[in-house]
Amino acid sequence: MKKINSLEDYKEKYLESVQDPETFWSNIASTFSWQKKWNQILDWNFETPLVSWFKGGKLNITENCLDRHLKDKSDKTAIIWEPNDPSDSPQFISYKELHYRVGVAAQMLKNNGVSKGDRVCLYMPMVPELAIAVLACARVGAIHSVIFAGFSAKALSDRIIDASAKVLLTADYGVRATKKIPLKEIADQALEKCSTIEKCIVYKRLDGNVNMDAERDVWWDDEISKVDHPSSAQQMDAEDELFILYTSGSTGTPKGVVHTTGGYMVYAEYSFRNVFQYSDNDVYWCTADIGWITGHSYIIYGPLLAGATTIMFEGVPTWPDAGRFWEVVDKYQVSLFYTAPTAIRALQAYDLEFVNKYNLSSLKVLGSVGEPINEEAWNWYNENIGKGNCPIVDTWWQTETGGIMISPLAGITPLKPTYATLPLPGIQPCLVDTQGNEIVGNDVEGNLCVKFPWPSMLRTTWGDHERCKQTYFSTYKGMYFTGDGCKRDKDGFYRITGRVDDVMNISGHRIGTAEVECAINTHESVVESAVVGYPHDIKGQGIYAYVICTGFNDDQQMKKEIIQQIVAEIGPIAKPDKIQIVSGLPKTRSGKIMRRILRKVAEGDTSNLGDTSTLLDPSVVDEIKAGAIH
Ligand code: WT7
Repeated sequence: MKKINSLEDYKEKYLESVQDPETFWSNIASTFSWQKKWNQILDWNFETPLVSWFKGGKLNITENCLDRHLKDKSDKTAIIWEPNDPSDSPQFISYKELHYRVGVAAQMLKNNGVSKGDRVCLYMPMVPELAIAVLACARVGAIHSVIFAGFSAKALSDRIIDASAKVLLTADYGVRATKKIPLKEIADQALEKCSTIEKCIVYKRLDGNVNMDAERDVWWDDEISKVDHPSSAQQMDAEDELFILYTSGSTGTPKGVVHTTGGYMVYAEYSFRNVFQYSDNDVYWCTADIGWITGHSYIIYGPLLAGATTIMFEGVPTWPDAGRFWEVVDKYQVSLFYTAPTAIRALQAYDLEFVNKYNLSSLKVLGSVGEPINEEAWNWYNENIGKGNCPIVDTWWQTETGGIMISPLAGITPLKPTYATLPLPGIQPCLVDTQGNEIVGNDVEGNLCVKFPWPSMLRTTWGDHERCKQTYFSTYKGMYFTGDGCKRDKDGFYRITGRVDDVMNISGHRIGTAEVECAINTHESVVESAVVGYPHDIKGQGIYAYVICTGFNDDQQMKKEIIQQIVAEIGPIAKPDKIQIVSGLPKTRSGKIMRRILRKVAEGDTSNLGDTSTLLDPSVVDEIKAGAIH
């Protein structure tokens, strides 16, 4: 497939994509394999909202990820699996083998009662069987909902219940560095509350020494061995749901972002190929977890659609030591490497010896995703990993956008540190002021919206279309609102400045302040709480919680219990870095918490708290300032 190959080519394609989006995307869609061509390229209305691409087109995305490549890439490695422990054996799975294993796993799902449209939840470690299970769902037309294996039992059951899932796939344990994560035990706890689950299929990562419910639980290996022929691919409409992925917003309950089949496929492949400038001999590694959108679009779907070799890594960047990433790059001659700023900042803190002992000359392109990358991290990545020779693609996008929206195209469009730079063809970003007026011209700043539909945008939020409308399409009429603030510089380059809503970004993990507050408030001694993000050297943002408590004697004990509560409700990723016990919160006379003040205090900047005259009780501010934790 052809890639955009020069700046002029980019400009030309961009113009075409804006002037005639339908022709532009239908030409790209035509390069895939469809069982039947679509009747309508695009139908949309951002008021409702309704977005539909390639309606009436029939396909199965796994035929495009797998079957399509059997002719000329059958023996090519599709997935390299690098285990947590570097002394364990990696796995190399060819396209032929992956095709077979996905077909068998799909049949196993059918044997266990799964059919088209059913929801299947996956709560699994980063093993090849996770990717196989995702693709097996797509093969039978079941809607997969992957739940990050770091979430708690409560978070898992909330998501299973919201999706009314029929089957859960999990593992006995997960392994990360020296830790064993009892996934099956957590799943058992979650399933106590999930009446829709009929079967739980358990993959054995370790010894399999876990409780099995004779009625409900079966072993992956046993079920696989019962299959006598791989399943064929279910015919899907382009607009049939492919997956749900839960993400945080500004309320306490996560929302299930829904992506559909045809448009997602087209955009995942197109963006992968062009942003990374993928070519046939590349070895590509995205270090994300499949539990997040990055893993969906750029470990599984994008690379496999393009026929690439994609690495799945089970471990962590700092174990056995801080050289692990670079050891893996050297070992597999990785050419395209995609990671998160938080990982770069964490590794930057170690001696360069951990980098320099490895040969990184195979690298051609470096990527960054998940949060703004600060200049220092950008420079370190550029100098020490890319040796000044590898373009860094700072890719801005979201769970909701399905694929990369604003990013350099490696080696094709210009770079500017800390800038995501320019929109991909087909993407029409715009900045708006708080009144909803579009801000035109350059050297301006505003809230980032998108004016026109693109193929991989979310279609709804599962079970609650109104929430989708309210969250994304109501703030600014006729536009998709991203929730991000953004600058456009004098050259028209975009720089994302961070969320403008109550969503935090902690080590690239998206967590709502309301979610953490709800978790804290479940503790019986807690009266009220307010959570804000504050700048954190490694994590990007840290979590600062202000909590009003009664009936406790020991501050330290109370804080410990609050943390336990959060770990139980959400998971360790949402642990606050700082907890301040306070006797009151700064509220307006109408009872609204003034988070601006709490944010300033958390930042350690109390010199100018702005106007506090509308506060009900200005004295709480002095108390909060005096007790602030720095
Ligand atoms: C939010 C989306 C996109 C996959 C991983 C996160 C922030 C993401 C960048 C970037 C600045 C970024 C935004 C966005 N974000 N990439 N390159 N520069 N900010 O997906 O969990 O849906 O989070 O992450 O704030 O809205 P997500």
